[in-house]
Amino acid sequence: MTELFESAEINGMVLRNRFVHSATNEGAANHDDGTVTEVLLRLRGDVARGEVGLLIPGNAYVSEQGKSRPGQLGVHRDETITGLSMMTEVAHHHGACIALQLAHAGGNQYVAPASGYALGPSDMQLTDVPCRAMTKDDMAQTVTDFAAAAVRAREAGVDAVQLHGAHSYLLSQFLSPYFNRRTDGYGGSLENRARFPVEVVHAIREAVGPDFPILMKVNCDDYLEGGFVLDDFVPLCLMLEQAGVDAIEVSGGTHFSDPRYFCSRPVGTVPREQEIYFKEAAEMYRREVSVPLILVGGVRSFQVAETVVRSGLADFVSLSRPLIREPGLIKRWHEGDTRPSTCTSCNLCFGPVRAGEGLYCVPLMQERQRGRSGDL
Ligand SMILES: Cc1cc2nc3c(=O)[nH]c(=O)nc-3n(C[C@H](O)[C@H](O)[C@H](O)COP(=O)(O)O)c2cc1C
Repeated sequence: MTELFESAEINGMVLRNRFVHSATNEGAANHDDGTVTEVLLRLRGDVARGEVGLLIPGNAYVSEQGKSRPGQLGVHRDETITGLSMMTEVAHHHGACIALQLAHAGGNQYVAPASGYALGPSDMQLTDVPCRAMTKDDMAQTVTDFAAAAVRAREAGVDAVQLHGAHSYLLSQFLSPYFNRRTDGYGGSLENRARFPVEVVHAIREAVGPDFPILMKVNCDDYLEGGFVLDDFVPLCLMLEQAGVDAIEVSGGTHFSDPRYFCSRPVGTVPREQEIYFKEAAEMYRREVSVPLILVGGVRSFQVAETVVRSGLADFVSLSRPLIREPGLIKRWHEGDTRPSTCTSCNLCFGPVRAGEGLYCVPLMQERQRGRSGDL
C-alpha cells in the first residue's frame, strides 16, 4: 500500500512525497518582461518550505505572442533564466522538486500582443483580443518556441517541465472540437486534434533528451457543448504516453464552461465524499494508462488524500487553493495535525492574480486586517 509520505520517482526525478503543488498563476512576475520577482520567490519559497514534493509555479508563456495575462511568468527569452534559477534554488533549498509549466494562451488572451491578435486553432473571439487561425508556419514557430522554452527551463535547473494542455489554453484548444474547427490534418478526429500537442511533445523530447521529465496537464472533459469529452480522455492519454510524456495531471473545465465546472470549482465546503472532482476519469485512466497519474481538483482533507494514494486511484495528489491559504499545509499534516484545509474554494484569490497584483487568500487577508487571524 502506497503512503502519502513515501518518496516516488518520475523519469529520474525523485520526489519526497506524493503531494504536488498544482500550477497556480501568481500574477507576481515583472509586468514588462515576465521575469521572477522577490514576491514570487517568497510565495514559492513558502510552499516549498511547507514540504510539498513537487512545486509547479504559475504557467509561463513560451512566446510574447502566447502571453495570457499581466504579471504572468515568462520563459520566452534567455533573460528569464537567471530569475528562474533563483526560484529553482529556493525550491531545492527547502527539499522540493520544481517543474515549470509551459503555456501558450491561444485565444484565451487578456493582454493584446504586438501583433494585435491572438493565435489559436481557428478564427474565434473568446476575449477582447480577436483570435486568428494558425497557419502551418505559425504552428511550426510555436513548436519551436515550446522546445526553446523547455531548454531554458532545463538550463535554469528545474527538475521537469509540464505542458499546459488544459483549461482552454492553446494545446487544449487544439484538442477541443469546440475551439478547433480546422478541416486540415489538425482538426476533426481526436487523432487529428491531438496532432499539434503531440508534435510539441516530440519537439521538447528531442530538445531535452530522454532523461528529462515531461509532464502534461490535460482536461478529462471541457464541460462545453461540443467540446472535449470524457470518452476522448483515455485515448488521448495513451497517445501522450506513446509520445513520451512521463506523467499526466488530470483536470477539467475551461474559462468558457459553466462556472460550476470551472477547473477551480466555487463549491464552498463540501463533505469528504464530494471532494474529488475527477474520480471517474482517474478510474478510467488507471485501467489503461501506465504513466503516473497526478490528481488535482477539490481535495481538502488528509483522509481523502490518503485514500487516493492508498487505493491506487492516483500516484500523486495535487493542490492549488489550499496552499494559497496555507502554504504549510503538507508540513502540518506530516506533523500529525490532520485537520482539513480551511480553504472554502471561494475563488476570491483570482481577483489579485488577474489584476497582476500578486497571489493571496483574500478572506485570510481580510481576517488578518480585522485582527482575527488564526495561526495559519
Ligand atoms: C489563482 C489560481 C491560478 C491558477 N493558475 C493555474 C495555472 O497557471 N495553470 C494551471 O494549469 N492551473 C491553474 N489553476 C488551476 C489549479 O492548478 C487547479 O487545477 C484548480 O484550482 C483545482 O485545484 P484546487 O481545488 O486544489 O484548487 C489556478 C488556480 C487558481 C486558484
